[in-house]
Amino acid sequence: MNGHHWVRVTPCDSIPLREGRVVTLGGRDIAIFNLGDRFMATDNQCPHEGGPLCDGIVAGDSVVCPLHAWKFKLETGAVERPASKHECLVTYPTRIEDGIVVLGLPEISTP
Ligand code: FES
Repeated sequence: MNGHHWVRVTPCDSIPLREGRVVTLGGRDIAIFNLGDRFMATDNQCPHEGGPLCDGIVAGDSVVCPLHAWKFKLETGAVERPASKHECLVTYPTRIEDGIVVLGLPEISTP
């Protein structure tokens, strides 16, 4: 089963347009980006050397890491630049409820 458990994280207007903010949920640092018409969420840590993607530059529907400018597609988490790299960020589904950004976290399976 590939369910999500949905967590209300922050009011939509607490994330300025085309910026990111980090939240810590279930031990993960997750960056949430305001693209104007929607919010996107990925792991905050850049797979290159751990740069904080929440401080990156949002360009179109991508984010550019503030440290060495790797560029990630927010929709899929795929590296767009450098093209030779195939690392991928974990992405999280989002929705908006009553002006609050709600994140879908993978269901934790308890043994
Ligand atoms: S840490 Fe993100 S590009 Fe190097």
